[in-house]
Amino acid sequence: MKTVDLGSKQNWVRKDLLSIRELETWEVETILDSAAAFKTVGSRDIKKVPALRGKTLINFFAEPSTRTRTSFELAAFRLSADVVNISTTSSSLQKGESLKDTALNLQALHADIIVLRHSSAGAPKFLAERLEASVINAGDGAHEHPTQALLDVLTIREKLGRVAGLNVAIVGDILFSRVARSNIWALKKLGANVYLVGPSTLVPRSFEAVGVTVVRNLDEILSEIDVINLLRIQHERQRKEYFPSLNEYVRFFGLTKDRAQRLRSHCLIMHPGPINRGVEIDSDLADGPQSVILEQVANGLAVRMAVLYLCSTVARKQR
Ligand code: CP
Repeated sequence: MKTVDLGSKQNWVRKDLLSIRELETWEVETILDSAAAFKTVGSRDIKKVPALRGKTLINFFAEPSTRTRTSFELAAFRLSADVVNISTTSSSLQKGESLKDTALNLQALHADIIVLRHSSAGAPKFLAERLEASVINAGDGAHEHPTQALLDVLTIREKLGRVAGLNVAIVGDILFSRVARSNIWALKKLGANVYLVGPSTLVPRSFEAVGVTVVRNLDEILSEIDVINLLRIQHERQRKEYFPSLNEYVRFFGLTKDRAQRLRSHCLIMHPGPINRGVEIDSDLADGPQSVILEQVANGLAVRMAVLYLCSTVARKQR
């Protein structure tokens, strides 16, 4: 197996990836540069490197996932790690075992890395503070989804050549979105101008405290943005109605064909998935030439390889 030239990553000191907020800008850039190097593995005949040979990764998803779970699993395979998948329904969490006890048992089985998706904000941090194993946050409640933001900014950097100075609109359900929170931190650290667009019920003005601009009228900024990232309405986290109807939402905040005509030709259309076609985005636009939705998914694999590689290196040194 060929190796990958990752340059000098000697300064990386985190065994866990819990949030983008806590990262220094150079750490975000290190992950992106490592991901770009790992992307080359995907174009080889033998899509594997020995970086994590002998290591065990547990993919622990207590909430549904297609993209994140699959790409962490593939990332681990490509790094030659052994992988076990568990979910709430297939674990003893169903019988009342605590998250901590479940994780301690996984560590006793010599798990080196635990990738955790959980409905409770802070669950990955809780485990990271108690385990020697690396803990990677694969989405915790409405808190953060760090690898999603990393794959998003990697896609922007690849497609537009930079992130600094770009105008990036994030549209929709910001209040309940871990994707939005991680994106805000990543984009701000890399120097983008961030616009949060949505009704006051889903995009409170309090977000402006972190240096973003809240916009109520999507039509006002369409011709000035370089990226539009459309978020899914998180019905599973909402306990009441935050807008009158889906039709009303589409009318004011959906990316319709009419609105898309006012985007600049280079403007990227992004969506973290899963998509509600015809709600936050017109179905044809999701498959159209400005859409980079599937490129985002592909970059998720490279980003997750980079994160697993960097964090596991530190965990190994600490033992
Ligand atoms: N974007 C994202 O997290 O998708 P999944 O829920 O399918 O992992």
